[in-house]
Amino acid sequence: QSPEPFDLILFGATGDLAMRKLLPALYRRHRAGQLPDDGRIIATARSELDRDTFIARVDAAFQERLDAEERDVDTWQGFLERLQFVSVDAAEPRGFDHLGTMLHDRDDRTRVFYLAVAPMHFVGICEHLQNEGLVTDRSRVVLEKPLGHDLASAQAISERIGAIFAEDAIYRIDHYLGKETVQNLIALRFGNMLFEPLWRRDWVRDVQISVTEQVGVGGRAGFYDRTGALRDMVQNHLLQLLCIIAMEPPTNIGADAVRDEKLKVLRALTRLEGQHALRNTVRGQYRAGAIAGQPVNGYLDEEDVPDDSRTETFVAIRAELANWRWAGVPFYLRTGKRLQERAAEIVVNFRDVPHSIFDVAYGAGQPNRLVIKLQPDEGVRLHMMAKSPGDRMQLRPVSLNLDFAEAFQQRQADAYERLLMDVLRGRLTLFMRRDELYAAWDWVEPILDAWNEAGDAPKPYTAGTWGPAASSALLGREDASWYEES
Ligand code: BG6
Repeated sequence: QSPEPFDLILFGATGDLAMRKLLPALYRRHRAGQLPDDGRIIATARSELDRDTFIARVDAAFQERLDAEERDVDTWQGFLERLQFVSVDAAEPRGFDHLGTMLHDRDDRTRVFYLAVAPMHFVGICEHLQNEGLVTDRSRVVLEKPLGHDLASAQAISERIGAIFAEDAIYRIDHYLGKETVQNLIALRFGNMLFEPLWRRDWVRDVQISVTEQVGVGGRAGFYDRTGALRDMVQNHLLQLLCIIAMEPPTNIGADAVRDEKLKVLRALTRLEGQHALRNTVRGQYRAGAIAGQPVNGYLDEEDVPDDSRTETFVAIRAELANWRWAGVPFYLRTGKRLQERAAEIVVNFRDVPHSIFDVAYGAGQPNRLVIKLQPDEGVRLHMMAKSPGDRMQLRPVSLNLDFAEAFQQRQADAYERLLMDVLRGRLTLFMRRDELYAAWDWVEPILDAWNEAGDAPKPYTAGTWGPAASSALLGREDASWYEES
């Protein structure tokens, strides 16, 4: 169903996220006929551009990002009709007047302010919007991460924005929740009877959540060096995945029912403080190496990274949940840049059979394993044991594969396409609530403190490997190992 008529005001429209993800996502939904005719996109940026120059930039970005077949003339013309541009400097009230003129007489429409800008501008923009009288009853605000640098800054931002927008008008984006497989994980867990009885400590030996990237910090070193992998990836994306994996069945798919359950998971995370934090986490930083056969620099040689930087580009954590369902089950989290493969997956390793009737000589049993792949391909694979053909009773591992692209033969929408449509339709289920944000920071902060107090450097790893050896050792302690396909 098409959303109501809307005005989407995009702050940061000339930035990387807008050009790479947001505008292409809006274009694709326009092309799919999902945007109402009277849906306008008002792009804003600090630069003093005119509309034509802005459109030329969008055109160039699309040529790079979209297939020629997607860029047909009619669709592009139709999309341009929606697009306006106005220069707005977050620090100056002046541009907000112009915006006010454009929005004049349109108070009855859904109004979405999408802040794809650095978080230091969030509060300023919202206050200017309020002072100009642009925040209506039908207004929503979308905030991009990072939402704060620690708990105190996250609270400060949230409280000031919370004084302008009601909580149910605030959409905190975590684009991992918009990925198709993450939604399928919800379907897999709560649309099937098969897994639920097994989804607990009695049957699960460990859970692994691993998001490995081949890219380095690219042109974002200035931001990244202040941030590090724990804040950039774990505090949000990995913890959100953990919530979806570990939460209790919600009573319905509504925003608060789901978010209440996710919040309980975050609050059940055992705190990692002091020595306990150091023992259960590994920090790494990449050194020069090779990715897909091409030599790449080490982190310290990247532009804008200080020579003595101690920022982690890799982190592995052994987490636990203190609740009846999961007590004692290790949740291993891992993420890093410049690693061997680009992959995001969740692996549920089941326990060994209690007693094997098959002689080891004929092929030992391997425990069952459910692998949920988020990227690069999307699918679910269940590893099990089967008899190998032939006279002997020899077992071998086989897998049941569900490849979403093959099963549905249909293009999967990008995470931002889905999330933008959810914002326009007013669906909050896939967005973080304020208390979730605080709970995630509350868990992450003592880890950062422990690292700071320890004062040592992150462990080096060669670009193109799976991270520091200590990451394998973290699991090795419990006779476990990271699931790596290649
Ligand atoms: C972003 C991080 O939130 O997620 C980036 O800031 C990271 O550092 C990116 O590269 C990964 O997203 P995806 O969808 O490419 O896995």
